Amino acid sequence: PRENLFQGQHILITAGPTREAIDPVRYLSNHSSGKMGYALAEQAQRLGAKVTLVSGPTQLPVPTGVDCVQVESAEQMLNAVQQAVSASSVFIACAAVADYRLANVAEQKMKKSQATMQLQLVRNPDILATIAARPDAPLCIGFAAETQDVAHYAQDKLTRKKLAMIAANDVSDQGIGFNSDENAMQLFWHDAAGQLQQRDLPRASKGHIAAQILRQIKELPS
Ligand code: C5P
Repeated sequence: PRENLFQGQHILITAGPTREAIDPVRYLSNHSSGKMGYALAEQAQRLGAKVTLVSGPTQLPVPTGVDCVQVESAEQMLNAVQQAVSASSVFIACAAVADYRLANVAEQKMKKSQATMQLQLVRNPDILATIAARPDAPLCIGFAAETQDVAHYAQDKLTRKKLAMIAANDVSDQGIGFNSDENAMQLFWHDAAGQLQQRDLPRASKGHIAAQILRQIKELPS
């Protein structure tokens, strides 16, 4: 059943990995399954929002009623997000964007000749930070997958990227995170008085975690 918590609001979500081409047949990527971002899209739609999901390559079906733009690279993801952002009141960056791309993508399939080879990489744009820096920025929500000092790094990203909230998880914990159906998260935000607030979401299905994240977003000071 649909609820109307986000009735009349447009929520923009990124999900999945990006793929950075090396040549016509090869790429750099990561193990993101997209499950958390797709769960957020499904729950946001269920809570009454109009949802645009900008997704890197995944194996997942697009949730019913969700408008999905499929992309591959970080640059394509940024372009798709910039197309949709001005209509959105909330931007949730759940994608595992590759931090680097190839400095030069080979036009033809690369041949093996030498015993070693080097690939030169350049930094990708930070999609979330780019959107959060806009004068007309929507409420921006980030994710932080960490293997140590989760709270410390999450709070740093909250402030540095000018986010309304960050959802952090410990990806060194086996059985949650990346390809899992379950997750456990810590949410950090600043209250109206500027005080750091924290809420722990214990291990649960990604659908349940997504619904709790969305309910917390609704409570944030604007
Ligand atoms: O800095 P870090 O990559 O850990 O930040 C993670 C957060 O920033 C996530 O919300 C992720 O979706 C977003 N991000 C992004 N574009 C990048 C890198 C990260 O939107 N190039």
